[in-house]
This record gives sequence, structure tokens and C-alpha cells, in this order.
Amino acid sequence: MPHQVIGWESTDPVPNHVFNSYLSSRHGQLYYDDLNLARLMTAADHAPAPYPSPLELIYLPMIRRKIHDMQDIFARAIADVGYGGRFHYAYASKANTAEEVVRTTLEAGAHHEMSSVVDVEIVQIMRRAGLLRPECMVFANGFKPAGSAYADSLLRLKRTHDNLIPIVESLDELPPLLHADERFDLGLRQKSYGFHPTLADMDASSTRFGMDTEQLWQAAAQIDAAPHLQLTVYHAMIGSQITDVDRFVAGLEPAIEQYARLRQQYPSLSIFNFGGGMPVAMTLDFAFDYDAFVHRLLQTFQRVCGQHNVPVPDVMGEFGRYTTSEHGAHFFKVITVKEAGYQYPWYIVDGSIMTSFPDSWALSEHFIVLPLNHLDKPFRRVRLGGVTCDSDDVYPPKPSQAPLYLPVETDELFLGFFSVGAYQEMLGGVRGSKHCVLPEAAELIVDRDTDGDYSFYRLPGQSTEDVLRNLGYV
Ligand SMILES: Cc1ncc(COP(=O)(O)O)c(C=O)c1O
Repeated sequence: MPHQVIGWESTDPVPNHVFNSYLSSRHGQLYYDDLNLARLMTAADHAPAPYPSPLELIYLPMIRRKIHDMQDIFARAIADVGYGGRFHYAYASKANTAEEVVRTTLEAGAHHEMSSVVDVEIVQIMRRAGLLRPECMVFANGFKPAGSAYADSLLRLKRTHDNLIPIVESLDELPPLLHADERFDLGLRQKSYGFHPTLADMDASSTRFGMDTEQLWQAAAQIDAAPHLQLTVYHAMIGSQITDVDRFVAGLEPAIEQYARLRQQYPSLSIFNFGGGMPVAMTLDFAFDYDAFVHRLLQTFQRVCGQHNVPVPDVMGEFGRYTTSEHGAHFFKVITVKEAGYQYPWYIVDGSIMTSFPDSWALSEHFIVLPLNHLDKPFRRVRLGGVTCDSDDVYPPKPSQAPLYLPVETDELFLGFFSVGAYQEMLGGVRGSKHCVLPEAAELIVDRDTDGDYSFYRLPGQSTEDVLRNLGYV
């Protein structure tokens, strides 16, 4: 039965090997680009190393790489197909809202997508710091009914950041904008989540996001009638981690038709925002032809807009998982091995798998797992267990059949979970109290300058006292 490839699938040592575009083993040690991960955890000379285990790795150069790669892919496709519009890359900040992540996306030239009242404060902070520049488009998704704190805070934000574009999810979000003193560019969100072959299917879907066709036209008419409002963006998102090019483009086509019809009536409409969905490698067998997807997408815009006699739009995506999945890794130490009357022993790690990567427990999501050291020793098939007393704190996730092989040598054996940088930390919570009162891991933020030299910034993990204070003991 086919399974997802989550690591090395053999008992043979793998001292030198390229696992994917950023992970390789060299002389039995695992590298992230040119960073020796084994040394981080074991070498006494790597001041102030060895770093404590468990450890969260935040590798900022990867965020820049993802953004620039996608910008290049679109630039090539725009030139190839002679596309008449531009591409805008926005970062969907819900995927990882940590300061160093948002800062890095803004520095790399991404526009910004947000979805809640606290996000507005983050935008204000980044703007004051000079990181979010006036030309940066800020897209406000999420529910913002009249009278909500989020709706009010958007009106305030507009006074300081003009390039704010609220995306209207439902008709009850319009009144504060209709009565606003400021001039607003607005977007409308189509009810589109899931795969719907026709507009009628989209309208019939039960998703809570966005408006159906009738509501969309009503909203467009109200906006058009208000002299201070201008309809600029059409937004339709069909899912996340969509790994089939044909399905992705076909799923967007009814929305592209809707855009073209709206554009016939409202010439101010100039951006088609397809939201998230861009997939990223979370396992080692991942394959997705980004170039093919972007070419097909642009050609579909050309065809459908041509049929409706309207110019093609600028295309934008709100890239969440794609931007941040691969920059995040989490390291554990194997603290004991337990043979439990089954073919494969338990390797118990010094932290919790289920609270560190909630999607593995809740959604049976797979991530890459590789040893950081002992790659030059024989491997065996194992199961991983977290140190909590929870029977679901295991990996591979239930009911996965994906085999996991790790070195037989467990003395000072360190493991890395990779491609865990999107959503996992935000879902698990930052600085909270976790299952079985395990303190949160320390973080190591890594950056690299243009000469290739690495810099390290370490954030402490939680102390026992932090956890006790959270829970009201001290
Ligand atoms: C409106 C919107 N845009 C973008 C995203 C990011 O999606 P992804 O992580 O698939 O890029 C999400 C995710 O839920 C979303 O709700």
C-alpha cells in the first residue's frame, strides 16, 4: 500500500545522502543547508552549545527563499504566456505569527494578510518599526461584523496605513465601511471552500466563509453606490495543501468566471486573490509542479477573461503553509528505548509530539523525521512516543502505516521533525501550559548573511516556575 515517506526507509546506514532540497547527511550528521544540526545539539565548542533539548529551530533564510522562488516562478510564467497582469505575494500570517517570521516576510517584500483584532496591533507595531512600508498591501480577512472589535480596529488602522484592504466575508460586514469617513479599497470573498466544479455547486456549499453569488452582487452594488468605496479585490480560496495541479486549477475556474462577470460590471476590480492552498513538502515523497500550476492558472485567466471580454487581473495568493512550513524544525533527544512485546520498539523522546505538532495527532498529518546524528550506523524500524502519559502522543500518527526507521545506536541520539513551521506552533499555543505540564522548548533563531555566515539567537524555553505561574501555583 502506498504510504507517505517520512524518513529514511532502510536498515542501511546513510552517512552521505541528499534527502531533499535542504536536508542532507554528511559523514553521518544531518545538515540543514550548510548548518550542521548534530553539532548544535552535541558539540561543547559551539558556544553556548550544546543547545538544550528539546529545541525548536527557526531557519529564517528558508522563508526568504520560498517567497523569492514563488516570485520568480510567476515572473517566468508571466513572461512565457504574455500575461497582462502582475503577481502579488501576500503572507497569510495565521500560519505563523511570530515576530521574527512576520518581520522576515515583510523584509522579503511580501504583502500581508491577517484575520483578527490582535493582528491589527501587530500591523501597527510593524508599521511603527518601519518594517511594514506604506506600499505594503494589508488584506483583512476573517469575520468582522459591525460593532466587533476587529471591525472598529480596522477603521482606526486605515487612518495610519492607507493600503488596507478589508475583504468582506458577509453582508453584515458592510455597514461600518459604508459609514466610514475614510476612502476604502475593498475585496469580496466568494463562498468557494472545497472543490466545486460549477458556480452553482459553490453557491450550494455549506462553508461558512464568503458569500454566494447573489450576496456578492448585492455587496458589489452597495460598494459601487458609495462614493468613498471602491471594489478592488475578488477573493476565492478552495483549500489548503492542494497537491494536484489539475484539481487546483479546475477548482478555481468557476471563481475565475465569477470574477470576469463582476469585472464586466465593475472596472475597478483588478486583483484576483486565490488565497491559500499552495502546497509545500511536508514529507520526502512530495512532488508538485509549481511552474505547471502557475502557467495553467495564468492561461485559464487569459482564456476565461478573453471569453468575457475583460482584461486579465493581477493575481495574488495568500501563502501561509508554503511560506513557513519548511523554516521550522523541532529537535528531541531519545531518552529511553522500550521493547513492548511488538516487532518495533518504542523510542521515547524528551518532549511531547502531540502538543508540538497538533496536526499529527488531530489530523494524522505526516512530517519528516530524521536523526541528527548516528546516520552512519544501521537503522531499524521503530515507533516514537512522547514523554506525556497520553496514548495518542505517538508518531507515526494513528492510523498511519508509514514506516519510520531510526538508528539502532541510541546513545545521545537526537531526532528532528521537519516542515513543522506552519500552524503547529500557533495551534499548540505559545508560552501556554501544556499537556502533562511539560515546559515549552527553547528556540534557536538562525539567520545567514550574504557571505554565508550563520548567526544564532537563542530564546529560553519555559522554566518550571513559568509553568507553575501559568497555572496559579506561584
Ligand atoms: C483566507 C485565508 N487565506 C490564506 C490562508 C493560508 O492558507 P495556506 O496555509 O494553505 O497557504 C488561509 C488559511 O486558512 C485562509 O483562511
